[in-house]
Amino acid sequence: MRVAIVGATGAVGHELLSVLERSPLQFTELQLYASPRSAGTTLPFRGQDLTVQVTPEGAIPADVILASAGASISKALAPAWVAGGAVVIDNSSAFRYDDHVPLVVPEVNGEAALQHQGIIANPNCTTAIAAVAVYPLHRQYGVRRMIVSTYQATSGAGAKGMDELLEGTRAVLDGAEATAQVFAHPIPFNVIPHIDAFQANGYTKEEMKVVWETRKIFGEPDLVVSCTAVRIPTLRTHSEAITLELERPATPDEARDLLRGAPGVEVRDNPGDKLYPMPLTASGKYAVEVGRIRESLVFPGGLELFVAGDQLLKGAALNAVQIAEYLQQHGALPQ
Ligand code: A2P
Repeated sequence: MRVAIVGATGAVGHELLSVLERSPLQFTELQLYASPRSAGTTLPFRGQDLTVQVTPEGAIPADVILASAGASISKALAPAWVAGGAVVIDNSSAFRYDDHVPLVVPEVNGEAALQHQGIIANPNCTTAIAAVAVYPLHRQYGVRRMIVSTYQATSGAGAKGMDELLEGTRAVLDGAEATAQVFAHPIPFNVIPHIDAFQANGYTKEEMKVVWETRKIFGEPDLVVSCTAVRIPTLRTHSEAITLELERPATPDEARDLLRGAPGVEVRDNPGDKLYPMPLTASGKYAVEVGRIRESLVFPGGLELFVAGDQLLKGAALNAVQIAEYLQQHGALPQ
């Protein structure tokens, strides 16, 4: 079984290597690809130095390709990778809304991955993190309406987003001004309610991704979802305040009990001990932290929660590798 990573040198690529290092996925070969800028550089993997190659225009000799080099690369090259016989697990938004492309969070709809026609899409990071926390509640109590407000880290914009935060912060501390290339405004000591492009309805594309993708992953085309997505000056891990209106009322204790047994979730909810989800504790963690669980004052019988999930892991690299593991466990990839 041959695995390839396209975009191996990026922020998500880096995490893919570290998740694969610890993954139960069986494979005999790992190939790394990036842009010509990185050709010939090496990256460590299980005690070896693997050489980064230029991403070819055509087929890649691999059984599964983990693609994380952006939507335009995936759009242009994934069809050739599929024609060459590979299954593509794509981290970009290029194919997420195609009807014939499954959009998969293994804890929610792993079986959808088995229906692929060559490409499986990895969801938007904010959506994947929310889905892990909300789906168990949806199954048990039926979510009628869901309102999400996000606090998103700079690494959501890749390695260059983190650099802009670090360099800008240093500049401000040195008495200079921070500049903005990656983000719409300087990010140090700021919050920016603008991620991705504004749409005709006044929402941003990032916000609409949460709406469209939650519906597709849950298999609920009519689910009422709204989102406000905000960039904050942290390095990694997205946090989200989530309000749920439920068909059947749930108490906070019932929700806590249910979530304690849910896959991919860590309940961190003891405000008296200052225990709640935070980027500081959720970064580097596979599980999504869920806490501040309380009855909604807006929707009686509904819930308010706060979640924090490492978006480079569950929102990207980890979810992609878990999809590959799921395929292999179900005989849909070679051993
Ligand atoms: P490179 O490091 O050679 O530029 P990030 O999301 O952190 O910005 O990372 C983007 C990833 O996509 C990097 O690995 C980057 O490689 C890769 N990439 C960017 N442009 C191309 C391209 N034209 N062909 C292949 N890989 C690319």
